[in-house]
Amino acid sequence: MTFYIFSQLVLNWYHLNGRKNLPWQKDKTLYKVWISEIMLQQTQVTTVIPYFNKFISKFPNLNALNDGTLNDILYLWSGLGYYNRAKNIYETAKIIKNKFNGKFPKNILDLVKLPGIGKSTAGAILSFTLNYFFSILDGNVKRILIRYYGVSGCLKNTKTEKKLWNLIENVTPIHHTGAFNQGIIDIGSLICTAKTPKCNICPLNIKCTAYQEKEWKKYSFQNNKKIKLTKKYWFIIIYFKDEIWLKKNTIKNIWNNLFCFPSFEKKNKAIQWLKENKINIKKYKEINSFNHEFSHFTIQATPILIKLFFKHNFLDIKKQGIWYNLRKPQKIGLPKLVEKILKLLI
Ligand code: ADE
Ligand code: SF4
Repeated sequence: MTFYIFSQLVLNWYHLNGRKNLPWQKDKTLYKVWISEIMLQQTQVTTVIPYFNKFISKFPNLNALNDGTLNDILYLWSGLGYYNRAKNIYETAKIIKNKFNGKFPKNILDLVKLPGIGKSTAGAILSFTLNYFFSILDGNVKRILIRYYGVSGCLKNTKTEKKLWNLIENVTPIHHTGAFNQGIIDIGSLICTAKTPKCNICPLNIKCTAYQEKEWKKYSFQNNKKIKLTKKYWFIIIYFKDEIWLKKNTIKNIWNNLFCFPSFEKKNKAIQWLKENKINIKKYKEINSFNHEFSHFTIQATPILIKLFFKHNFLDIKKQGIWYNLRKPQKIGLPKLVEKILKLLI
């Protein structure tokens, strides 16, 4: 009986208050909902909207996407973060072209094998687009379930994960599954927020354990708060007139395949690199350091400016680097931190 009430409460709330006009909710296609769900995996709705619109106007469907390069996708992804998602999109498009005749698969078992698509994202794509009967379990949904049912345990524990999947699969209705899934996400992100949930206007408050116990903090499952580390980096900005030298990042870190300044964790390593490349270090200028925040760490960035008077053929230029033209910027992927530094120079 309790389960039955839960889905009614969510659906009724959704019909009155839920979000129905987000850009990916209009003229729905599997393709567009897929792109939106990948963007929404680690990013909030308000940030995603302009990125989604730009992406869809450049790549309105799978065919268009398959004509693009990874650089084209990373260019549109610049500043959105978690760039691995862009690479997964690129690879998934190729797989769909080659294995599924260019048609987006509708079978959940096919979907979960694609890069970047797990059980929850597959359920979201199929339920939002086709109203298929699959549940979703993202951070928003987990937070509600934990509070509503008073779940204890560690979030990273596979047992807890299983318990939460069981709970959500039990309360997901067979009919109007898409509306229910959007409703529970909306309640999670608009009402049952991580900090100070708005329990007094929550449709689930009648039976919610956390609300009854007046103890939502106890059911907050903050991932063990680790102290954020600060990493220092020196960035070498070599410029000649309107051009800046950027290097493609081939290391599999957070900026894989993006273009960046040469970067070093120690200042003397930066100086050494300059010497090895026979770049005159007498005329360098250090800009004040600033902090750039990531979810798990902070970068303390110190840009070192080097002005060239002729286009120097330094050694590293033979590797993957480009002269990035500030007046006619090439369409490549740039991390937000690089964009920030470039803005200092214009
Ligand atoms: N987060 C993940 N999917 C979402 C969606 N469809 N709407 C809002 N937030 C989301
Ligand atoms: Fe979350 Fe409060 Fe609603 Fe319970 S009543 S689900 S804690 S917002």
